[in-house]
Amino acid sequence: MDFRLDGRRALITGSTRGLGLAIARAMAEQGAAVIINSRTVDECVATAETLAAAGHDALALPFDAGDGSSREDALAEAGTIDILVNNAGIIHRAPLPEFSEEKWRDVLNVNLTAPFLLAKQLSEAMVARGWGRIINISSIMGQIGRATIPAYVSSKHGLIGLTRTLAVELGPHGVTVNAINPGYFATEFNAPLIADKDFDAMVKGRTPLGRWGDPAELAGAAVFLASDAGGYVNGASLTVDGGMTAAL
Ligand SMILES: NC(=O)c1ccc[n+]([C@@H]2O[C@H](COP(=O)([O-])OP(=O)(O)OC[C@H]3O[C@@H](n4cnc5c(N)ncnc54)[C@H](OP(=O)(O)O)[C@@H]3O)[C@@H](O)[C@H]2O)c1
Repeated sequence: MDFRLDGRRALITGSTRGLGLAIARAMAEQGAAVIINSRTVDECVATAETLAAAGHDALALPFDAGDGSSREDALAEAGTIDILVNNAGIIHRAPLPEFSEEKWRDVLNVNLTAPFLLAKQLSEAMVARGWGRIINISSIMGQIGRATIPAYVSSKHGLIGLTRTLAVELGPHGVTVNAINPGYFATEFNAPLIADKDFDAMVKGRTPLGRWGDPAELAGAAVFLASDAGGYVNGASLTVDGGMTAAL
């Protein structure tokens, strides 16, 4: 089994913290050159420097995944990308009557339209080389629903559909496309939920493993899908949720 990623270059969007950083670190540890991205220049540079100081090959590529010109300017300087991890994502919470069209569009733009456009642009060279990996970070909210987050739930369901359609179109060219559906992980993204005692108790009570996930526990799934060991997995969604969605 070959889980190594030597000689591969991986772009992980939203990789200065949380799940994206855990994925970038794990891919770097398996020998990939990693491209660190977020909207915040200083944090991209600092994260890439920390990884480089640990002996890894890491480059900072700041851009806003949801902004066309920022994204395209950055990609023009990115060089070869063998592995694309569409991880950057945002959430907006509001009761339906207060959920604005603007917020709906913002969330759909970053969580679904940006992965589509990044995959469209970067898959061209992957197809030409006959090898590539696209990994979309969806969510268990791509499989089930929850009140007050309609744009997030819709974008994550859409990302699983995008994964399937691209897997069918790009598979014949040696490019696999898969999704990962994380459950509840302790990241900054979930800080308000972790601080909410009732929500924290709900997550621990509903998850068979009885705890929030550690971001490092998601990274193995991404390494597997990117590696040759995962080479026959295509169009799949891999749920990593401590068993939450297996339980009623
Ligand atoms: N944490 C969970 O439990 C969980 C569960 C299911 C799914 N997910 C999904 O996993 C992904 C990562 O979540 P996380 O918890 O690690 O989030 P996080 O801790 O909030 O980190 C998000 C990362 O994305 C960057 N980012 C945000 N918007 C961006 C944009 N428009 N362009 C480029 N970078 C952007 C952030 O940096 P800047 O703000 O500086 O740009 C940061 O590096 C998301 O897609 C989320 O939906 C998370």
